[in-house]
Amino acid sequence: MEQRESDCCELEKIEITMLLEAIYRYYGFDFRNYAFSSIRRRIKHRLRAEKLLTISGLQEKVLHDSSCLERLLYDFSINITEMFRDPGSFKVFREIAVPALRTLPNLRIWHAGCSTGEEVYSMAILLHEEGLLHKSTLWATDINDKVLREAEKGIFPLQRMQGYTTNYLQSGGKRAFSEYYTVKNDQVVFNADLLKHLVFAQHNLVTDCSFNEFQVIFCRNVMIYFDLTLQNRVHQLFYESLAQGGFLGLGNRETLRFSNFAEFYKELDSDHKLYLKVK
Ligand SMILES: C[S@@+](CC[C@H](N)C(=O)[O-])C[C@H]1O[C@@H](n2cnc3c(N)ncnc32)[C@H](O)[C@@H]1O
Repeated sequence: MEQRESDCCELEKIEITMLLEAIYRYYGFDFRNYAFSSIRRRIKHRLRAEKLLTISGLQEKVLHDSSCLERLLYDFSINITEMFRDPGSFKVFREIAVPALRTLPNLRIWHAGCSTGEEVYSMAILLHEEGLLHKSTLWATDINDKVLREAEKGIFPLQRMQGYTTNYLQSGGKRAFSEYYTVKNDQVVFNADLLKHLVFAQHNLVTDCSFNEFQVIFCRNVMIYFDLTLQNRVHQLFYESLAQGGFLGLGNRETLRFSNFAEFYKELDSDHKLYLKVK
């Protein structure tokens, strides 16, 4: 019995490896170095949803039916986000990074793994309040085209605004949060003035290159799903893309400490994972 269970486990690993290899070779999406337990959970979910019995069956379907691939990609990209998520991170950014950014003639900011856009709208609001938005361009990228299409609308459910208002105030927000949007039925539409400074584009952190030089890069709650090899690849990309003296913001549960790039940054806040590129 034990033997069969371990065979099954081994077989499952082989099937998952082959599925990810097939997706990479045929479609170019590379999930081979995503954290295994997380990717396994998502594949199992997709198996049930597609009413398939084996991962090999899923591989066949994904290769011959691109809509099935889309559904699986959606499962792989965990899109949970909120405005002013981890408010302390925005507070620290306001207090530490903003004074330095004031001295620059213009600002290029990259939100990598932006999901449905809540994070980049939060940053645009913060920059507006600090008098920096007029000289800023914020690039918001994600692997997932579907979330980007949502993000660029700037429309969010009204019911989330109470929680977002609390986050906004805790992050050091200086006005009434409702000044930034108009309510339409059960949705809110964010002011077009914010949108003017945002650029949304598809970008895959695993396979795509650097596309500009930035003074700030935020990549929060994305690398948590990557293994160390992949994290290092992404840190290389960020190192190449960040100007000297630029700021890197990671998620609260992420760190530069174990990466190959730790020595090139100074940790400005250990709780809120704000780093300064010093070398
Ligand atoms: C949990 S959300 C984080 C959203 C936001 N940064 C935050 O902290 O609230 C993770 C996002 O990373 C994106 N993502 C996952 N793998 C990616 C990759 N290889 N390249 C770019 N984005 C990726 C997912 O599509 C998802 O939208």
